[in-house]
Amino acid sequence: MNKKKLHIKTYGCQMNVYDSGKMSDVLADQGFENSDQMEESDLIILNTCHIREKAAEKMYSDLGRIKKIKDKRTKNDKDTIIAVAGCVAQAEGQEIIKRAPIVDIVVGPQTYHRLPQMVTNAQKAHSKYGLELDFAAEEKFDSFPQIKSVEGSKTTQSSAFVSIQEGCDKFCTYCVVPYTRGAEFSRSVKDVENEIKKLLDQGIKEIYLLGQNVNAYHGRGFELDKWSLGRLIEHIAKMDEVKRIRYVTSHPRDVDDELIAAHRDIDKLMPFLHLPLQAGSDRILKEMNRQHTVEHYMKIIDKFRDARPDMAFSSDFIVGFPGETEEEFLGTMRAVEQVRYASTYSFIYSPRPGTPAATYEDTVSLEEKKDRLQRLQALINECGKEFNQNSVGKIMPIMFDRQSKKDGQIAGSSPYLQPVHIDTNEPEKYMNKIINVRIDKAFPNSLHGIVVE
Ligand code: 5AD
Ligand code: SF4
Repeated sequence: MNKKKLHIKTYGCQMNVYDSGKMSDVLADQGFENSDQMEESDLIILNTCHIREKAAEKMYSDLGRIKKIKDKRTKNDKDTIIAVAGCVAQAEGQEIIKRAPIVDIVVGPQTYHRLPQMVTNAQKAHSKYGLELDFAAEEKFDSFPQIKSVEGSKTTQSSAFVSIQEGCDKFCTYCVVPYTRGAEFSRSVKDVENEIKKLLDQGIKEIYLLGQNVNAYHGRGFELDKWSLGRLIEHIAKMDEVKRIRYVTSHPRDVDDELIAAHRDIDKLMPFLHLPLQAGSDRILKEMNRQHTVEHYMKIIDKFRDARPDMAFSSDFIVGFPGETEEEFLGTMRAVEQVRYASTYSFIYSPRPGTPAATYEDTVSLEEKKDRLQRLQALINECGKEFNQNSVGKIMPIMFDRQSKKDGQIAGSSPYLQPVHIDTNEPEKYMNKIINVRIDKAFPNSLHGIVVE
């Protein structure tokens, strides 16, 4: 049988990358194989992000381009099904079809397991579109274990994502996630364990646990008890073939002693934490409904550093939140100075429809917002460079898992998520292995090293 072609374009966070993998898995059973060519695909899925306005607008401009592809294929008697998945689908629903009538399927993040049926329906009656926006997280995960392939979860040959938690109950006033991803849901330990075992059978060494609020994890254990993230990590670390464990994204409010102890006691747990602070002013944090102060955050950082002195951190920051004064912005700069993050993401505040902050008076001019972003990014880059520079001379275990762009080099990741390159004409000797490397050069976004035999 001739396989049908599927092209998935993924926007946004790692959770979307993971979900795209799962979508291609469920559709493989229906005879679809992945293609990186949109033009030759029978089914095109846009797995979208709604976190900031730009991300959502990108989808609409891509749909304009896809319309041309579809028209050309129709002329050649070829059918093309267009699906919009992800957070824009959840947030805008039917509106998408009104604005872009070429769309056949709109499917929210909790109903991907129903995609095969929706695709069949669209194939049968092409003029009819499908819409699935339930919050059916439990049903979704329950239907995944039947899937044979885990290809979609892999990020490299050595590393794979495993979603353990979805959704958010925090309702930060600027954020759409609680509306697009629904309430917090944790998978059971058994489910997580089963997925990890399949990945290990395929040679995966690094498990990257995913959740919108990953450290709010409270999945069912083997009895009727609830396990925290720290306890889950301890359990996963007992599997011999697991060599490295990472997790993302955490909320300061959900950091507990078990997680800090896990960083102290478990070598396989990488000494790196993405812990968004968002703003360095208590008033702004309150307006954002973050439910903690800057001081509380700094105490958490200190506790991690006490437990694991080489712990590295990254954060997200929003500049130009409604009402943010220059002095409040300088609080953000001071917080970055204090933590000296290894890496950081920063964004201009983008009002999102339906969120409380979208109704707040926007007092900061666009010019000012851009200026603040520029100043913050200059500082962030300085900290990143400093962090990389401090790595020179150190010996680090590097997990090699990819070719470098440069000929004669391969690349891997340091425990602190830095890309590390080595020169070698025997890539197979090091690939998919963790090897000690002495770092000899630092660049703004990567390191270079020499293998320590
Ligand atoms: N505007 C700008 N940035 C936002 N983020 C979330 N919502 C918004 C918004 N409305 C940022 C936060 C979050 C990251 C994933 O995206 O910093 O941690
Ligand atoms: Fe959004 Fe806040 Fe939930 Fe993070 S914790 S997903 S920023 S609402």
